Amino acid sequence: MLKASDFPADFVWGVSSAAAQTEGAASKDGRGPSIWDDFAKRKKVKGNQSPEQACEFYDRFEEDILLLKSLGIPNFRFSISWSRILPDGTGAVNKAGINFYHKLIDTCLQNGIEPWITLYHWDLPLALEKKGGWKNREIIHWFKDYAAVCLAEYGEKVKHWMLLNEPLVFTGAGYFAGYHAPGKRGMSNFLAAAYHAALAQGYVSKFIKTNYPNVQVGATFSCSFNTPYSLKEKDLNACKRVDTLLNKFFIEPNLGLGFPVKELSALKAINKHMQPGDEEMLKADFDFIGLQVYTREVIAHSFFTPYLRAKIVSASKRKVFHTNMNWEVYPDAIFEVIKLFSAYEGVKKIYITENGASFSDQLLNGRVHDFHRQDYLEKHIKKLHEASLFFPKLKGYFVWSATDNFEWTEGYKQRFGIIHINYETLERTVKDSAYWYRDFLSN
Ligand code: GAL
Repeated sequence: MLKASDFPADFVWGVSSAAAQTEGAASKDGRGPSIWDDFAKRKKVKGNQSPEQACEFYDRFEEDILLLKSLGIPNFRFSISWSRILPDGTGAVNKAGINFYHKLIDTCLQNGIEPWITLYHWDLPLALEKKGGWKNREIIHWFKDYAAVCLAEYGEKVKHWMLLNEPLVFTGAGYFAGYHAPGKRGMSNFLAAAYHAALAQGYVSKFIKTNYPNVQVGATFSCSFNTPYSLKEKDLNACKRVDTLLNKFFIEPNLGLGFPVKELSALKAINKHMQPGDEEMLKADFDFIGLQVYTREVIAHSFFTPYLRAKIVSASKRKVFHTNMNWEVYPDAIFEVIKLFSAYEGVKKIYITENGASFSDQLLNGRVHDFHRQDYLEKHIKKLHEASLFFPKLKGYFVWSATDNFEWTEGYKQRFGIIHINYETLERTVKDSAYWYRDFLSN
C-alpha cells in the first residue's frame, strides 16, 4: 500500500478550507457583510441557504484543529475573511477580527499544524462591491492595503500566503455568468474583473515580497485536464480554446507572458484595460503556485455558445462515474495538469491546494462510510505519486475539504469534507476517508 513516506521527504500534506464556507458568525464581533451574505439574502443560493451560520468554525475552530491533530494532518489551508478585518473593505480595522485570526493561527501552531493562508477566497466586502468591486481598478490598492494589514499582523507566524483563490472562477461565475456572487453578467463585466484580478496578483505579490522577504507567496489556480469529444477538427479546436481559458488565461499574464488572446481572440478586448506600466505590474513574483484539480472536461464544438463556440459534455451525458457535482472521477487529470503547469519555466514550485469529491454521505451509528470519497483520494494520490517521480516541482497536496461546508450556490447539500458536519447540531464526525488519510500519512 502506498504511504506518504513513499513521497519525497519534504512533501507537504494537508487539508483546505475557506472562511465564507466554514466560519459563520456573519455579523458577529464587528464583521461587515460580504458579497456572499448579500447574494444569499437575494435568494440566489439553492434552497435559500446562506453562509450566515455555516459550520460555526468561528466559535468551534479549536475543536476542528484538535480533530486535524488527532488525524495527524500537518498543514491546514484556510482563508481570512476580508470584511472581518476591514468591515468596509478599506479604512478602519476591526480589532476583534484581527484577534480571531491570531487565536486561530496560534492554535494551529501550538498543535503542530502549519497554517497556510489564502487572502481572498471570494468573500469580497459588500462595501467594495458597491464601488464596483473587481470591475474598479482601485481594487488593486484596496487589496494591497488589506494584504498589508494581514502581513503586518501575521507575517511573522505564517510562512505560506496565497493571494487570490481561483481568479477564473470568481470572475467567470461572478461577473460573466452571474451564477456566483456578486451575480453580474456579460463579457465587459468579466473582462474588467479578470484584468484587475490578474493585475492585483502581480502588484500585491511584489509588494509582499519586497516588504516581507521571508514569506512564501503564491496564488491558487483552478485547472482541468481537457480532452476533445471527437477527433474532428472542430472539436479539437474547441478543446484548445477551452484549454486556453481554463488553464492559461490567468497564469500566463502573471508569468510575464501576457494574456493568451492570440489563441482566444474572443477575449482580446481585455487589453483595452491596459495602462502604461501594466505589463510589468502584471508579472507576479510567486514562490509557488497552487493548482486545484477535481476532474477532466470533455469538450465539443458548439455553434450556439457565444464567444467560445464550445461546450462541456457532462459526465452524466457521457455515462461515466461522477461525483454529486456531476464531475467525472478521472484520476489521470491530476497527473496531466501537473505536467502542463510544470512545463512553464516561470513556475518554481507546485502544490495541489485542492482535490476532493462530493458524495452523499450517511451518518450511521457515529460513522460515515464514505467509500467513494476514500477511493477518489486513494486513486488521485496514486497518480500524484507518479507525478512526483516525473515532476520535481511538485511539492505537496491538500484535500478539499477539512469539513463539509457551504458549497457556494449549491448550498450545504454538496459535501466535500473528510469530517462530517451535522448542520442542526453542528456535531463533527470523522469520516472513513479521514481515517484512511490518517493511516496513509502515518509512518
Ligand atoms: C473550488 C473552490 C472551493 C470549493 C471547491 C469545490 O473551486 O476553491 O471553495 O468550493 O471548488 O467545489
